[in-house]
Amino acid sequence: MAVIVIVGAQWGDEGKGKIVDVLTEKADGVARYQGGHNAGHTVVINNEKFILHIIPSGILHKGKACIIGNGVVVDPSSLIEEIDGLRKRGIEVGKNLFLSKNAHLIMPYHVAIEKEQERLKGSKKIGTTGKGIGPAYVDKIARTGIRAGDLLYPEIFREKLKTNLSGINHLLKAIYNASGFDADAIYREYMGYAEKLSEYIADTDIIINKMIDENKNILFEGAQGTLLDVDHGTYPYVTSSNAGAGGACTGLGVGPTKITRVIGVVKAYTTRVGEGPFPTEIKDSLGEKIREKGGEYGATTGRPRRCGWLDMVVLRHSIRINGLSGIVITKLDILDGLEKIKICTAYRYNGRLYEEFPKELNVFEKCEPVYEEVSGWKENTSGIKDFEKLPKTAQEYIKNIERILGVNVEIISSGQKRDELIMLKEPF
Ligand code: GDP
Ligand code: IMO
Ligand code: MG
Repeated sequence: MAVIVIVGAQWGDEGKGKIVDVLTEKADGVARYQGGHNAGHTVVINNEKFILHIIPSGILHKGKACIIGNGVVVDPSSLIEEIDGLRKRGIEVGKNLFLSKNAHLIMPYHVAIEKEQERLKGSKKIGTTGKGIGPAYVDKIARTGIRAGDLLYPEIFREKLKTNLSGINHLLKAIYNASGFDADAIYREYMGYAEKLSEYIADTDIIINKMIDENKNILFEGAQGTLLDVDHGTYPYVTSSNAGAGGACTGLGVGPTKITRVIGVVKAYTTRVGEGPFPTEIKDSLGEKIREKGGEYGATTGRPRRCGWLDMVVLRHSIRINGLSGIVITKLDILDGLEKIKICTAYRYNGRLYEEFPKELNVFEKCEPVYEEVSGWKENTSGIKDFEKLPKTAQEYIKNIERILGVNVEIISSGQKRDELIMLKEPF
C-alpha cells in the first residue's frame, strides 16, 4: 500500500499528466488536490492525445477511482465539457468520478473580475490563464464562496448567489466600470449544471480515507508547480493555491501521516508560461529551438512557454518544500543534439552567491545564474527504455543532477507515449 503525491517541481508543465497516467496502472485511484482548469495535463496513448484540465489523469485507465478534491476550484461548464469530451472518445466516466461537496465553484463573475484586475495591472499583470481561478480562491478565503455541495440545494444556492451579486455587481460597476450579472440567469445556468453533476458530488474525504484504510494504492496529483505555489513560489507571480505537496493534505482531507512518498516531476530543462522572473531563461534562438522541439505551447491557453536551462536553486527549494523522496526527469529527449548543456548551480546578486532560493522577488528578478557547462549528446534518446542505452553524456547529465541535488532519479521519460520511459525504481 502506498499513498504517493506527484508534484510539479518547477513552474508547471513538467509532464505530470504523463507520469500520473503511467503510474495509475498500479494504483487504485487518483485524486487532484488543488488548482482548476488552469491546468492542462497531456497524456498520449498510442497516437491519441488527451488533455485533462480538472479530471485526474488516471481517468484513461478503466475502473480507477478519480477524485476531484475539496481544494480544487471547479468551473462546472468546463468540467461537463471535459466529461462529455472523454465519453465521446470512448473513455468511461461515471461511477469512477467523484467531486467533493466542498470544492468551490468558479462563477462567471470570477472570470469577469480577473479580466478587469489583469487589465488594470497593465505591464505588471500576472499573465493568468483567465479562468477565474484567483477570484474563486479569494471568495473561498473570504468565506463567501459557493461550493459544489450547494448545487444540491437550489434555495441555498440562490440565496448565496444573490448575496454575493449584490456586492459584486456594485464592485464591477463602480470600480471597474464593467457590467454586472443577473442572478436569475446564473441561477438557471448553474441549476442546469447541477442536473448533470449531482451524480458525482460526494464526501470525497471519506472515500479517500476509506481507500487508505483498505490499503489501496493512491496517487495525489498536483497541478501547476512548486514555484507557482501561493506560499512558496515566486509571489505574486504564482497561482492562488498550494500547488506543493502540502496542499495535498488540506486539499483532500488526508492527514500528513497517511502520505507514504512525494515524487517531484522535473523537466530536463525549465519552462514558464505567463509573467514573472525566470533567471535561466534562454532569450536567443536556442530558446525558440527548444520551444519548437519540445512543443512548448500551453496545453490550456496555447501561449508559447518561455524556455530555459535546468535550475538547481529552484530544485533545491522544491526538494525542501515538498520533502521529495525522489524525482522523475521528463523530456530528456528534447535536449538531444545540443553540443553543450548548462546547469544553473547558484545565483549571483550584488556580489553575493545564493545557493538557496532568495525569498525577495527584487533579488530573484535581478540575480544572475551561475552555470556549470556540461557536454551534450548527438544521439537520439527518444523512446529509450534502458538507462545503459542512453549516451554516456546523457547518463552523466542525470548523475550530475542526482549529485548536485542529493536525491534519486527514479524515472526518466524519453517521449510523450506511455512506454517511452526508463523505470529505475517502481514507486509502488
Ligand atoms: P503537465 O501540465 O505537467 O501535465 O505537462 P503538460 O502536459 O502541460 O506538458 C508536458 C508536455 O510534454 C506534453 O505535451 C507531454 O505530452 C510532453 N511530454 C511529457 N513527457 C515527455 C517526454 O519525456 N518527452 C517528450 N518529448 N515529451 C514529453
Ligand atoms: P499545469 O497543471 C503552467 C500559471 C499562469 C500564470 C500563473 C497564474 O498544466 O502544470 P492562474 O490562471 O493560475 O491564476 O495563473 O500560473 N499557470 C500555469 N503554468 N502550468 C500550469 O498548470 C499552470 N496553471 C497556471 O500561466 O503565470
Ligand atoms: Mg500543463
